[in-house]
Amino acid sequence: MKKIFILLLINLISVSSQQCDPILRDPPLDSRKCFENIGQTLNGLASFSPTLSNPFSMNRKGENGTTIALMDPELCIDHCADYLFKYAALKNGEECYCATDSITEYYNHPSNGTCNSTCAGNPTFTCGGENAFKVYSTTTSTHYSYGKNINIYKKLELVSKNSDPRYQGCFQDGPSCRTLNGTPPQVENSITIDDCINFCNQNSFKYAGLENGHQCFCGNDYTVNGQASGAPNEQCSTSCVGNSSQICGGPFALSIYEVPNKSSTNSTLKIVGGVVGGFLALVLLLIILRLCRG
Ligand SMILES: *[C@@H]1O[C@H](CO)[C@@H](O)[C@H](O)[C@H]1NC(C)=O
Ligand SMILES: *[C@@H]1O[C@H](CO)[C@@H](O)[C@H](O)[C@H]1NC(C)=O
Ligand SMILES: *[C@@H]1O[C@H](CO)[C@@H](O)[C@H](O)[C@H]1NC(C)=O
Ligand SMILES: *[C@@H]1O[C@H](CO)[C@@H](O)[C@H](O)[C@H]1NC(C)=O
Ligand SMILES: *[C@@H]1O[C@H](CO)[C@@H](O)[C@H](O)[C@H]1NC(C)=O
Repeated sequence: MKKIFILLLINLISVSSQQCDPILRDPPLDSRKCFENIGQTLNGLASFSPTLSNPFSMNRKGENGTTIALMDPELCIDHCADYLFKYAALKNGEECYCATDSITEYYNHPSNGTCNSTCAGNPTFTCGGENAFKVYSTTTSTHYSYGKNINIYKKLELVSKNSDPRYQGCFQDGPSCRTLNGTPPQVENSITIDDCINFCNQNSFKYAGLENGHQCFCGNDYTVNGQASGAPNEQCSTSCVGNSSQICGGPFALSIYEVPNKSSTNSTLKIVGGVVGGFLALVLLLIILRLCRG
């Protein structure tokens, strides 16, 4: 965590426009072919859990409560990598499907000209077409290795259950403005949930939020961007880089935890320390007095 403190210092010195930092994204992509749909659904995720929507899409709230679709190849690839699928496929500009090795079984042949829908979240990419899937390998995601020590069932269990009483839920992060804006993003290559909570505790914030597997944010309010209603669980599905048995948010999504009160734990420790210290000093004084007399 030393690295985090140094980062924090550097960031605090620079201007406080940090709350609108761009989200960190994966490196550029390796695009695969465009496949035609022959009727079957591709979403392997749907067969694992009825609570996960089919297909996956991602939205954010607009200024007037409107819903703005967010989808681009990276979001879809990250999402499918989080759920340990080998392929990610985009359709219709904003729908994301995940698939296993058998993807090509469901599709007749690559077709050349039908993946022509602009991505809802980034018009410089195409996200499939009306009846066609643009397919990517999830190995291009930086998250691909995070969860490889657990299987898909364990992962789904982790995503749907969080027994930690500190857990507040999964909340969207703004693509331009942060939901937890007390600190700039802290990026750690070995972060766990407790690392982030401890960091926010040391900096006297009420909430800690983990995003994208490796980012930690602190703040005193997570309702500032109008995201109070939270995001579906499936959006917080990225394993923590420091412990693949934990979930650290997802792309554009924060796993938010309440930070224990710093003052209460510290003051208890101080009182105990004070009493014990005082007692020892007294004993020492008595011993010295005895020695002097003797
Ligand atoms: C929000 O509402 C105002 C007033 O009704 C309107 O002028 C504006 O264009 C709307 N903005 C969006 C993003 O819809
Ligand atoms: C599609 O592209 C491949 C190679 O990129 C080419 O060999 C094939 O003839 C094309 N098919 C059509 C129908 O244009
Ligand atoms: C996309 O491709 C389909 C099939 O080739 C075609 O019907 C449709 O008009 C195209 N749409 C655009 C926006 O080019
Ligand atoms: C990883 O996280 C799990 C679940 O919170 C926990 O039981 C385990 O002790 C953690 N492992 C390490 C090495 O911290
Ligand atoms: C921390 O203390 C405040 C004020 O005393 C209280 O409102 C809040 O519920 C406490 N939070 C926790 C996690 O104990």
